[in-house]
Amino acid sequence: MHKNRQKIVVIGLGYIGLPTASMLATKGHQVLGVDVNESAVNTINQGSIHIVEPDLDILVRSAVHSGNLKASLVPEEADTFILAVPTPFSTSDHGLKIPDISYIEAATRSIAPFLREGNLVILESTSPVGTTERIGQIIAELRPDLVTSRSSQQANLAIHLAHCPERVLPGHILRELVDNDRIIGGVNRAAAETARDLYKTFCNGGIFLTDSKTAEMAKLVENSSRDVSIAFANELSIICDKLGINVWELIELANKHPRVNILQPGPGVGGHCIAVDPWFIVAAAPDEARLIRTAREVNDAKPNWVLDKVKSKADRFKNPVIGCLGLAFKANIDDLRESPALEITRKLIKADIGQVMACEPNASDDFCEFALFDLSDVLQKADIILLLVDHNEFKQIDNELLKEKVLIDTRGILR
Ligand SMILES: NC(=O)c1ccc[n+]([C@@H]2O[C@H](COP(=O)([O-])OP(=O)(O)OC[C@H]3O[C@@H](n4cnc5c(N)ncnc54)[C@H](O)[C@@H]3O)[C@@H](O)[C@H]2O)c1
Repeated sequence: MHKNRQKIVVIGLGYIGLPTASMLATKGHQVLGVDVNESAVNTINQGSIHIVEPDLDILVRSAVHSGNLKASLVPEEADTFILAVPTPFSTSDHGLKIPDISYIEAATRSIAPFLREGNLVILESTSPVGTTERIGQIIAELRPDLVTSRSSQQANLAIHLAHCPERVLPGHILRELVDNDRIIGGVNRAAAETARDLYKTFCNGGIFLTDSKTAEMAKLVENSSRDVSIAFANELSIICDKLGINVWELIELANKHPRVNILQPGPGVGGHCIAVDPWFIVAAAPDEARLIRTAREVNDAKPNWVLDKVKSKADRFKNPVIGCLGLAFKANIDDLRESPALEITRKLIKADIGQVMACEPNASDDFCEFALFDLSDVLQKADIILLLVDHNEFKQIDNELLKEKVLIDTRGILR
């Protein structure tokens, strides 16, 4: 195989797999993207996309038209296989959140028949520690012909196996795919070096080699670090509310200290990374990961605290109109996955304490769970304004329009 032009199979054509497959194709690699979602496969083969990400449509169209990117429901033989399938958590009968690696196991089984000696298999999905080695075990079981030797702990394989976690930010994926630094963890040094040769064909950022377990943990720790910092800010916001202190002013002042950098509080933590990945560490070390677990619990509890706040204010009115501003999990995007703003709005509607008027300027046309309203309409009719997301549109709200209203600003932008 020549590192600069390879045959590459990418399993999973979502927010990570599709940009990666298209990027590799535009760099001259022959790429087969595989997904179990037939309609996604058909859409991509027509040069179109099924997900929302700036400029991805242009990249996919050019990759497909060049003949270097094709999509399929089934894998085939290749030099390199990249797995980019989901890694959610499931909740056990005892309420424990445990990582679900069944998609990775299924993807591994799907490529096993096509593997050849010397192949490179890369796991890109965010994964609990030990998952890359688990892939090796599955391959050893299904393809004993690829086992070169066995130690008490593991089977050595005639393929290279590495983990390369993804760090891209939705909304900026194409730029970050090229510019971000990457960590590559091999099950051995040769695997890490082989994977590095491939990433060098499209990454401008630094590439840092380590073992697979450290690479898996690095990704989980990056998101846990953010989660713990946000939990500190969220806890402060609740304490300050009790003590009658403006938390936004407090944080601004505390951050004047040269070595203090407190993050901003919000209505909770959303998205499918920061709100999920720390649980993988807690599941692996439940007695030791006390701070990480508590941070998750603090952030998960914040939406209910906001809800109680709204209920206590609503008591003052007979039939209050409650305007919920924003549903997305963060500013200026349409992504509703694990969104605390959506959770709060849903619960407010269910609580039936008044009329809820929700406004989400970025909502996709498909959104039909409940009625959405224009910002001007909400600002005119609502008695209580609950600001949930710091979208640009909301930062421009004229304070005059809020004078007669009860304001609950979970993002501190309407001060
Ligand atoms: N989206 C992000 O911003 C982001 C950032 C960093 C890391 N990650 C991680 O990357 C991984 C993928 O995330 P995503 O956002 O791309 O998910 P996604 O849900 O957008 O896409 C996953 C795709 O995999 C397909 N799939 C599932 N099982 C399959 C199988 N057995 N064979 C073939 N296709 C299969 C699904 O149909 C789907 O199209 C996850 O582990 C996630 O945590 C995501």
